[in-house]
Amino acid sequence: MTTTYSAPGKIYLFGEHAVVYGEPAIACAVELRTRVSARKSDAITISSDLGSTGLDFEVHPYVSSAIEKLSSPEVSVEISSDIPVGSGLGSSAAVTVATLAAINTEFGLGYGREELARMGHEIEQKVQGAASPTDTFVSTFGGVVEIPSRRQLDILDCGIVIGNTNKGATPKKTAKLVKQVAVLREEYPEIIDPIIKTIGSFAKKGELLVRKKDYASLGRLMSVNHGLLDALGVGTPELSALVYAARDAGAFGAKITGAGGGGCMVALTDSPRKVASAIERAGGKAIVTEFTAEGVLQE
Ligand code: PMV
Repeated sequence: MTTTYSAPGKIYLFGEHAVVYGEPAIACAVELRTRVSARKSDAITISSDLGSTGLDFEVHPYVSSAIEKLSSPEVSVEISSDIPVGSGLGSSAAVTVATLAAINTEFGLGYGREELARMGHEIEQKVQGAASPTDTFVSTFGGVVEIPSRRQLDILDCGIVIGNTNKGATPKKTAKLVKQVAVLREEYPEIIDPIIKTIGSFAKKGELLVRKKDYASLGRLMSVNHGLLDALGVGTPELSALVYAARDAGAFGAKITGAGGGGCMVALTDSPRKVASAIERAGGKAIVTEFTAEGVLQE
């Protein structure tokens, strides 16, 4: 028998960076998935686009750690993914959660989703040194989620286009940018603290707008949120080029998603193909996707 699970990636509608200082944020699972198949075997093997290995903490750190976390059963694991690696879309959380879930079922280990999310977070912390629980939580449970309360908001049925700058994707990028904002805040607390507070206020207002499915207003506030992320110094010329291209093509709004410093932006739109072509013309790789209520699920 083979057991296959998939788990989604995520974007931030509002609130990245401010969430580090206790402000609320809204993170959303998107229909870009990592699929992991697990089969009982007579040796541990892991195959992905990165190659075929045994338990290997260099090539496959997340999957190897997930196998180890579940007491290293002899399992053959195969991975395929729609989520670009290391660009703020939660690829590492998705592969970790899907691996834990597939092995859990294949070997009848009996863990529930809360436990899978917790183990996933511990693995991300171990591999990366530090990690917020948001990615593994959203990948496990899906939906539109208020952070830190973890309340599920209504699912949105508006188009999303992600624009990848294909730049700056390094494993330590998030930690570096979080540090950079901390340094700026230490130097100018009276200027930076209000910006962080304002970013927090988007999530509060955003919750109402999500309930009303008011995409035009959500988009407008995403664009304001982008300006403040730029003010915090986490923007890049490439990210701004994609953000402006998406807005010029009629998107409701567009912003950086995740840590910034390269990586991805996200646009909310009811004409995803038009916005995707504009992002491509501006030098990005466009991915058209949608919100999803489905977290980790058996395929
Ligand atoms: O780029 P990502 O997906 O790792 O998101 C980082 C979000 C931050 O708020 C910048 C950091 C965090 O841990 O919340």
